[in-house]
Amino acid sequence: MTIESENDLRQLKAVGRLCAETLRRMMKYARAGLSTAELDELGRELLAAGGARSAPQVTYNFPNATCISVAPVIAHGIPGSYTLKDGDLIHIDVSAELDGYYADTGASLLVSGGSPAALKLLEATKAALWKALRAAKAGRPLNELGRAVQAEARKRGYRTIVDLSGHGIGRGLHEEPREIANFYNPRDKRILNEGLVLAVEPFLTTGKGRVVEGSDGWSLRTADGSPAAQFEHTIVVTHDEPIIVTI
Ligand code: CO
Ligand code: CO
Repeated sequence: MTIESENDLRQLKAVGRLCAETLRRMMKYARAGLSTAELDELGRELLAAGGARSAPQVTYNFPNATCISVAPVIAHGIPGSYTLKDGDLIHIDVSAELDGYYADTGASLLVSGGSPAALKLLEATKAALWKALRAAKAGRPLNELGRAVQAEARKRGYRTIVDLSGHGIGRGLHEEPREIANFYNPRDKRILNEGLVLAVEPFLTTGKGRVVEGSDGWSLRTADGSPAAQFEHTIVVTHDEPIIVTI
């Protein structure tokens, strides 16, 4: 969507704040011995307490409130009986609808620390997100985001996942503009407009950057089993720095 009024912005910020707070609490709660279903339960309670509905649930009939992916799964992981272990690389994605407005945020984390190599991947992915956010300016080409993500990944020795991309959001979970690539696509001629609401979500990996769907029909894991990380924010494009609503 494109923000057209103060009310639009206020409502988008409200759902963004709720998603951010839910993700923050879930990340803090994640620990060895906890099942991903128990972690999801906290997310479900927090979204419900805020008056919101899980976006993947209402949009796609996803079986749980949040997506929790354990590497090499990197997206759309179904929370369940899996018990977290020290050093696990996991990803939590929280997206919700509140009063007709949608926001989407996600983060990777290492359960009780993790290896230096995994930490480096997380740092690089976070840096790529910030580079992409800085490239998101009204009047600029949309493909500058992918260019920024890819440049940061390369500089740090990683690849981006080409099969997964960011998207427009606001009145629905996935809206135009679709396919905000995490690589530079010179054929993409779209230009960012003021007030445009985007979910920006770079995925970085040590592997080749392709994903395959799991037998559960939801989970997406790296095709070569390599670890991958993602960080995601919902933003409003302006002529200056974007407004980050999931912070
Ligand atoms: Co997401
Ligand atoms: Co998203």
